[in-house]
Amino acid sequence: MITRVLGARSLSRDLGNWQDEPGRRSAARPAYRALADGIRLLVHDGRIPLGVALPSERELASVLELSRTTITSSYAVLRDEGYLTSRQGSRSTVTLPSSARANGLMFRAHQPGPGADVVDLSYAAMAAPAQEVQAAYEAALRALPAYLPTHGMEPVGVDSLREVVAQRYTARGLATSPDQIMITSGAQHALRLILSVMTSPGERVLVDHPTYPNALEAIRRVGARPVPVPVRPESGGGGAWDLDGIRSAARQTAARMAYLIPDFHNPTGLCLDGPGRAELTHIARDTRMLLVVDETMVDLWLDEPSPGPVASYGRSAAKTEVVTIGSTAKSFWGGLRVGWVRADPALITRLVGARAAVDLGTPVMDQLAAADLLSRDDAVLDRRRHELREQRTALLTALADRLPDWEPTVGSGGLSLWLRMPAPVSTALAASAPNFGVLLAAGPRFGVEGAFERFVRIPYARSSDELRRGVDAVAAAYETLALDRRQTEPSLVV
Ligand SMILES: Cc1ncc(COP(=O)(O)O)c(C=O)c1O
Repeated sequence: MITRVLGARSLSRDLGNWQDEPGRRSAARPAYRALADGIRLLVHDGRIPLGVALPSERELASVLELSRTTITSSYAVLRDEGYLTSRQGSRSTVTLPSSARANGLMFRAHQPGPGADVVDLSYAAMAAPAQEVQAAYEAALRALPAYLPTHGMEPVGVDSLREVVAQRYTARGLATSPDQIMITSGAQHALRLILSVMTSPGERVLVDHPTYPNALEAIRRVGARPVPVPVRPESGGGGAWDLDGIRSAARQTAARMAYLIPDFHNPTGLCLDGPGRAELTHIARDTRMLLVVDETMVDLWLDEPSPGPVASYGRSAAKTEVVTIGSTAKSFWGGLRVGWVRADPALITRLVGARAAVDLGTPVMDQLAAADLLSRDDAVLDRRRHELREQRTALLTALADRLPDWEPTVGSGGLSLWLRMPAPVSTALAASAPNFGVLLAAGPRFGVEGAFERFVRIPYARSSDELRRGVDAVAAAYETLALDRRQTEPSLVV
């Protein structure tokens, strides 16, 4: 089995000021303890993926300018606590102790009773712009007679929609013809089709960490293995993607594919900058890795628009290494169930072939309605962005008021805030939240194997009033939980 090895420089960067952990007097803690504490925190926060090997003691000692004995002692502490496992003849790899994995199971989940006034913050999706969607279906009904003489099954999609989607890419600086577009029943369906054609069981797929939970599920369902590469909000918006980490993970695991969300990433809302996009395409080409870029959120820019499709940054002769998937779900309405793939026509043909095993096409009415929405001017999107900006401000204000020690990542778009809590209680919080009138998605859903217990995603896709009520309820749930933990676990370290 191939073991990924974490670079000493990358670990050192993530550790930051590991000797000055807030609330702890460095003099009271020997360096090996402080280092073990720092590494343990990174494991819990998903920064050090499970299953990777830590840098060699010699290498880390040299980068951190410490004695080798200090590193040996740190690793020994981590091993004793269950954060490192060693197999005979191979390097120690990172794991979680079983007590940490069971963390959330201490709390029972309760469903709200009938009629309960519950704020659902577990979904990052807006209601439809009702008038426009209704008008789009009326237009679709008028266009429908032209399709009735045919059998109506269009696995590649109806021409009018493929043309509109292609035009939108061309307008964004990525020349596209309709034969590069396949219409799917949403972006999730598109990803599943790509995975089934491009990966075999056991193959590695790089993913942002955190990432969209249903993508992780799709990767696992085809028997492929997600390889997490940390997204680091503190590196500053566009710089949050660890491109060195992506390159070395691609090399070390010989990953077949990467699935990334560089446009207003779910859950952080971050957006990769232009130079980062260019570098990504180089990495994909150099490592012969297919780059699947999920642009589902691309229209939901709140501070500034995306710097353009990743595929437009590749060298023209080599653009085929980037496959782009898109959707009407976030821009307009999830109920449309219309998405697409933009790829080389040869890959489109293979995807259409694979589709027959699953379904025979997206309903024609929904495709026609999507074509109508996508070809209107941007007034609907402007309005939705405006609403989201106001709601994001309302959420941030409520959080600053009720949960001031939670640290939000504020991306430049998207639908949610990714929040770091002082205590690693995310699963327990999501489990007890319904008792307080709110539904939440726990941080670990966005990660691989138990990471992100200290994080929670809160979408701002609800009205400002609902968000304020939701945050009140989350704060009440958190206070109870934090109190419980203070009483039962006075020596909690992470
Ligand atoms: C990043 C991302 N990709 C894909 C999807 C699913 O899109 P669709 O509804 O088009 O299948 C979502 C929905 O939340 C998402 O956030």
